[in-house]
Amino acid sequence: MPETITITDDRTGKTVTAPIRGGVFPSSALRELDPDLYCYDPAYLSTASTKSAITFLDGAEGVLRYRGYPIEQLAERSTYLEVAYLLLYGNLPDSAQLDQWTFDVTHHTFIHENMRKRFVDGFHYDAHPMGMFVSALAALGTFYEGAKDVGDPAARQRQILRLIAKAPTIAAMCHRFSVGLPFNQPDNNLSYPANFLNMMWKIGDYEVDPVLARAMDVLFILHADHEQNCGTTAMRVIGPSGADPYSSAAGAAAALYGPLHGGANEAVVRMLGEIGTFDEVPAFIDSVKTGESRLMGFGHRVYKNFDPRALIIKKAAYDVFDVTGKNPLLDIALKLEEAALEDPYFIDRKLYPNVDFYSGLIYQALGFPVDMFTVLFAIPRMSGWLAHWQELLIDPERKIARPRQWYDGPGERNYVAIADR
Ligand code: CMC
Repeated sequence: MPETITITDDRTGKTVTAPIRGGVFPSSALRELDPDLYCYDPAYLSTASTKSAITFLDGAEGVLRYRGYPIEQLAERSTYLEVAYLLLYGNLPDSAQLDQWTFDVTHHTFIHENMRKRFVDGFHYDAHPMGMFVSALAALGTFYEGAKDVGDPAARQRQILRLIAKAPTIAAMCHRFSVGLPFNQPDNNLSYPANFLNMMWKIGDYEVDPVLARAMDVLFILHADHEQNCGTTAMRVIGPSGADPYSSAAGAAAALYGPLHGGANEAVVRMLGEIGTFDEVPAFIDSVKTGESRLMGFGHRVYKNFDPRALIIKKAAYDVFDVTGKNPLLDIALKLEEAALEDPYFIDRKLYPNVDFYSGLIYQALGFPVDMFTVLFAIPRMSGWLAHWQELLIDPERKIARPRQWYDGPGERNYVAIADR
């Protein structure tokens, strides 16, 4: 069987044959056929917008690999900082590289005092922490002279370090501000996840529980990258315009903020709270089937059998509950999952729990308010965004993104004076 596709334009009889590699054929074949012919593909359902060597995902088989390493092995044996290095630089670090990387990230965790005093303190007292996080990322770029030197590899590395190191600091600062607590400075003696938990919760003699720090690290690993999702695509669209990485990351974080993307974990916990009791589950399932409600934390654009992250997260949830006590919403979640998994509506549409179905329950057990959930997704996703940003900037095929549109509006018409309308 030839690995090619032949397309015939029936209007002209012209034919073009293009190679198929890895299930993909180049759109240049269409341009060859007719430079004014475009493919209409809302939401990129059949379009590969980029080549990438970072993350491999097979939705049918439930496979997720970072740089070739299965997510299950990384979640079991690695740390978030090691995974961030892997995503950014392509290989696992040796021990000297990991020590240097850990040292460098750890020593860039502080933020300029004016960020907090002048910028963050200006928010309204009940500002959503994700809204604060998005804006704070963009504002942070204004503090660094080299931020805009995106063509300089050394300057790029400095911004990458800063963004990965400061994301937890900004996140914790946004939370502490929104509950009226004084900001905790980073503690360079702690690991990346423990430092974050310490900045979040330290009052008096608080000590980070190592089981909870490890659970946080596993959650960070699971969320570090997920190939061309909405936020990463935003990063890849903004980056090639030459925008600095802080502004690009703010754009990616804004995309993540939406409830159908990173906001889903928050929506899951709200949904479980609204369902309220075990007995209400069947009625809620019915309301999903009639289209009145959406079962948040279920379904995925790519995973159509299971989301491998959801399996790992379910186990992590039990590790956390052993320390914190069970989240009372867990029983409702389990019942909901059971009911949905045996219902033809969900089976036929291939709707399974995704990463967000259980992550919110863990976050809640760890003490995070629901408003912080998307911020918790954004902290580790920073390494994925930056890996894609960096990959794109050195790609010789890089061009500014500029899709075409299928115009569907009125034809030419003459302006009518307001008195005559
Ligand atoms: N509850 C009820 N019905 C659903 C759901 C759901 N969660 N998800 C999809 N469907 C239905 C949808 O109504 C459609 O039905 P029909 O064919 O009768 O019109 C069918 O399933 C196909 O859905 P779709 O909207 O075409 O699927 P999509 O690939 O465009 O959407 C999704 C993917 C994740 C946006 C969607 O499944 C959804 O809204 N899920 C809930 C939100 C959620 O959990 N998001 C987190 C995604 S994982 C985190 C991440 O990686 O960002």
